Amino acid sequence: MEFIILIIIAYLLGSIPTGLIVGKIGYKTDIREHGSGNLGATNTFRVLGVKAGIVVTLGDILKGTLAALLPFFFNFDHIHPLLIGVFAVVGHVYPIFAKFKGGKAVATSAGVILGVNWLLFVIMVISFLVLLYLTKYVSLSSMLTGIITVIVTIVQQDIGLIIVTSLLTVFVIFRHKANIKRILNKTEPKIKWMG
Ligand code: G3P
Repeated sequence: MEFIILIIIAYLLGSIPTGLIVGKIGYKTDIREHGSGNLGATNTFRVLGVKAGIVVTLGDILKGTLAALLPFFFNFDHIHPLLIGVFAVVGHVYPIFAKFKGGKAVATSAGVILGVNWLLFVIMVISFLVLLYLTKYVSLSSMLTGIITVIVTIVQQDIGLIIVTSLLTVFVIFRHKANIKRILNKTEPKIKWMG
């Protein structure tokens, strides 16, 4: 029963459509009607600018972190935080509050990792920024960061993290099908605000 309660809260937390809220309240803009149409941090940067992008990135990360910390908040120490965290990612991607059309699982997955292993999160952020600098593609950098994260967890030999990061990375890649097509067609937009 405790497990069911936590996964429902995690799913609802993940379902909070940060990009939609920031866009509609702060800018009277529905980001789903602009840019890539994705309800995520990257499209918020693209459509609404850096300030809104940072707020949505932090909000989407926070959803994952809070979800992973739920067993701790409720004193259900026998429940693994990663198991709960993944339901926030499911909520972020298929949000009940936004017609089940959400983001691509990147920031909220990173937030879940932050909730269980901050050092791995730091490695992810550094990998992402280096890859972004080198490739200028957010989507490609996100997918490659997922793969690097799995490799790091294999080196660390943490079986729970190996399973969950592998699942999340497959999910992230699955959600980037359209981006992969665009990268291959050379029509995927590159970021403009980095060297
Ligand atoms: O986090 C999502 C990002 O990797 C791609 O977003 O809007 O360019 O499809 P977008």
